[in-house]
Formats: sequence, C-alpha cells, structure tokens
Amino acid sequence: MDMWNRREWISSAIGSTVLPWFVGGCGSEADPRVTQQSTGRKPAASRSSRPRPFEPDVELKLVAERGEAAIWDGKPTPVMQYHGEVLSGRKDALRESGSFLGPTLDFLRGERIRIRFENRLDEPTIVHWHGMIVPEAADGHPQLAIDPGKTYTYEFTVANRAGTYWYHPHPHGRTGYQVYQGLGGALIVRDPAEDSIGLPAGDDEHLLVIQDRRADDANQFQYLSNNMMDRMMGLLGDRVLVNGLSNVTHPVSRGPNRLRLLNLSNARLYKLAWSDGSPMHVIGTDGGLLSGEEGPKKVPFVVLGPAERVELWEDFSTRDARAKVTLVSEEFSLAMGMGMGGGRGMMGRGMGRGRGPGMMGMMSSPGEKLTIASFRVADEAPRAGQLPSLPGRNPVLAEPSRQLTTRLGFRMMRGFLNGRQWNMRDMTHTDDDEVLKHNEPVIWTFDNASEMGMQMPHPMHLHGVQFRIVDRKGSGAGDLAKGVLDVGDKDTVMVFAGEVVKIQVTPTVPGLFVYHCHNLEHEDAGMMRNFRVVG
Ligand code: C2O
Ligand code: CU
Ligand code: CU
Repeated sequence: MDMWNRREWISSAIGSTVLPWFVGGCGSEADPRVTQQSTGRKPAASRSSRPRPFEPDVELKLVAERGEAAIWDGKPTPVMQYHGEVLSGRKDALRESGSFLGPTLDFLRGERIRIRFENRLDEPTIVHWHGMIVPEAADGHPQLAIDPGKTYTYEFTVANRAGTYWYHPHPHGRTGYQVYQGLGGALIVRDPAEDSIGLPAGDDEHLLVIQDRRADDANQFQYLSNNMMDRMMGLLGDRVLVNGLSNVTHPVSRGPNRLRLLNLSNARLYKLAWSDGSPMHVIGTDGGLLSGEEGPKKVPFVVLGPAERVELWEDFSTRDARAKVTLVSEEFSLAMGMGMGGGRGMMGRGMGRGRGPGMMGMMSSPGEKLTIASFRVADEAPRAGQLPSLPGRNPVLAEPSRQLTTRLGFRMMRGFLNGRQWNMRDMTHTDDDEVLKHNEPVIWTFDNASEMGMQMPHPMHLHGVQFRIVDRKGSGAGDLAKGVLDVGDKDTVMVFAGEVVKIQVTPTVPGLFVYHCHNLEHEDAGMMRNFRVVG
C-alpha cells in the first residue's frame, strides 16, 4: 500500500467509526439519521466487526490550483485558488464565490460529508476545516500534506453547532504563503432548529470575508517583501478585499440584515465599526450564535483577529433610502513590549498608529484606518425589525480536573510555545504536557507575559474543539478592550501583549491535533505544536 492509499484507508475507517462517541459527545439529536446509524451498529462482539462503509449525504470535489483573478483595474493577479463541485447530494452544499476565494460550503448539522480533494499545485498542500470538530484523519494536520497530483479524501459528520467556519491549507511552513496566494473559503453550518429565532435570511444574510493584501504596480501579490518586519508582525497589506474583490458596494434591504464577518487575513486585526458611529449588535462569534444570556451584545466596535468570526444583526431601516453605510476599521495602537522573563518587562504603546512608512520602514501598519465595505440601502419603505432574543443558556462548565499552561514567546523571528517549536522532523511529536483526556474538561492558560523577547498579540487557535474564554488578565488590549468578544463558542482567541488568558476546553475527539498562533507568519515560524487527545 503506498502512502496515499494508506491515508485514504485511515480516513475512511475513522470517518465511519466515529459516530458512536460523537453522537454522545456532541449532541446531534437534531438529526435522526445520525442516531439511527449509531444505534443500528452491530455490537462489537458480533461476527463481522468490519466498519460499515461511510455513506455520504453530500459528496464534493475540491481542487487547489493556480489561476488568475481580476481584482483591480489593469492586469489580472496570479493566484492559487480552490474550485469545487457537488458530485452527489444537495446541489446547494456548494456555491461559487465569484472571485479567487474558494466556493462557500453550506452544510447541515448532522450531515455526512465526503470531500475528494485534489492537489493541482506545484507544491504539497492539505485542507483544514477551521473550527470544525472532525476526526483526526479529516482535520488536515500538516503531516497529511499531499504531493502535487495526489488526492485526499475527507469524511466526517457535521458535529458543529450552526455557525460560520472556514477552510484553508495547512502544510507545514507554507500555510501563510498559500493562504496569501488565495487559498481559503467560507464554510457555513446550518441547523433547521435555528429557523424559529427569526433571524434575517435569504437575501438579508450576507457573508463578508475580509482580507488584506499588498500588491505591486502589476497587481501581483507581494509576500514577505519586507522580510524582517513581515516575519515579526505577520504580513500586513494596505489594500482590503471583501469576498476576494476590491471596492464592492453590497446592496442591502432597508430592514434587519444578518452579517457574517470572517477575518481571513494572514495577520491583520481589525477594529470594525460603522463609520457613522452606530453601535454594533453582536449575535454570534466563532462557533455560532451567543446564548440568550450572553447576547445579543451591543458594542461600539468589534475587534476581529486573524481567523476569528463574528455575526452582526443590523437594522438598516434606521438609515435613509439609498444611504451609503460604511464599515471601517478604525485607527488603533497596539501594545508591544520586551519581556525580560518571569513576568517582568517593558510595555510600549503607539505601535501602529497612522499610515505610511512606519517603524523600520513598514509600508503598512497594524492599526491604520481602513475602509472595509460599503452597503447601499435599498430605495424602499423602511421595514423596522426587532433585535431577536437568542435561545439557550450559558453552558454549565464542568469543574475542570486539570490545568495546563502555554507561555507564548517570540524572539529571533521565531515563535515559541513553552520555549518549544514545531518539530518538523517528527510532526507527530507531543510532550507530556500536551496530552489531554477525551471528554475531560481542562483549563488551558495562554501566558503572554512571562517569556523573554518580543511581546506582541498572538491569536491562539486549537484544532478539533470549540472552547469558552473564562478569564483575561492584563491591559494589553488597551483601547481595544471594549470590542474584544470573550463570549460564545470560540476556536481562536486574541492574547494581547502582556496578557494571560484562560480558556476551558473539553476535547470530544481522540487523536492528534495542532494548536498554534493563527498569525500565519508566526505559525510558519514554528509557533505551532501538537496536542494528543487520549481515550
Ligand atoms: Cu485555521 Cu490550524 O488553522
Ligand atoms: Cu483550525
Ligand atoms: Cu503569534
């Protein structure tokens, strides 16, 4: 059996044996098919213990390849992109994006999904479903990267709550480059159980994938052109793209609308606000809608770090017909510091204010003011809506039996987690403190105050789980604090310079997963490690 066949086999085997514990652990009672399949399984003692074949409800094909995209006036931009098609099942499980972005995948909770992924690039790659709780073999771990010309088959049952997720490449050391070249797309999970809330839907639901790019006069994306600064801050562009396009005005009805915002930028953090100063109504974060006790939440602006998502409810009936409403990223300053070790250090503020050549000749700064998107309110009578109340209560968090701590460090252009880096020689390596127990709740602390070297913000991400943010200490967020959303189910959390953030997580899928900084230049600079969930 060659490498690829073995992988395909592993993926299928795990995909089909995953159901019993997944049903118990993640509570997919909404879908009768799932329960049926799990109760219909033969007991282990029966004669045939062969896993039954995985029968997908939806089967997709997804291809990564090079291409060209018309983004700005003038020359087309060479890109890498995902294309896809539905091979069987619901035709609306996939929607072309209309740009270089990958198609938007639209799955139902409980659905069984098979995706045949083909690498038509000239370098290894693999796809990861960000935020999705899938079996190890379907998670796109860097060790599963496939060579050009090869195929990888993913099989999983949609276990996540309804929400806004995404997908992107995850090969070791090349994630930042490939995402920057255009590989990435949105993945929406829907649950018919949400229909009764009365959220705006259909044409009143909008997806906005936010990215920044730097390009030369010939419209070519520039990656790591300012080597030292790019490796330290991550790649920051001065041109904003929404859904892979520049300067598009989105028509909206003169009533309530639902906006799903995804930050698919390599490294940029946005301070999102309405240019007219209206407040923002947050109804969801990374892993779906807030619970009724948490939201909707009214904030003056929303801080959206790399890989994070937020859902807004916006009533445009308060605006004039034909009014243009603009979503901006307001100017801000980021705290940065030098850690001396042991919690001591020097903290400075002011990094990133203003535009133009900044510190060390940077052409674009982290806190510059940017226009994100414009909305044109329809020329129609206003249809005032009422902010819906959200169902559900805060989850009761079980008493965690274990604590673990990861100190974040960045020095000499390399990222460290407890002083360690990604082990590229053994991509399955884990240390003793990186082992979690299946279904055992833990408090995981991200300490961005104790290491020597540069202290800067790190968006920390865990694969294979959704977690809750239970504590944040330190003043590193500064004037951004009012828009930092520590609510709802999360898979990525901003840990600002000098901060100590605690999350509570209960891993429900056994296997090997990664945790890393989602500043993709930091990830590629080794700021990634494995954790193993054991039974
Ligand atoms: Cu967005 Cu390791 O992932
Ligand atoms: Cu992920
Ligand atoms: Cu980082």
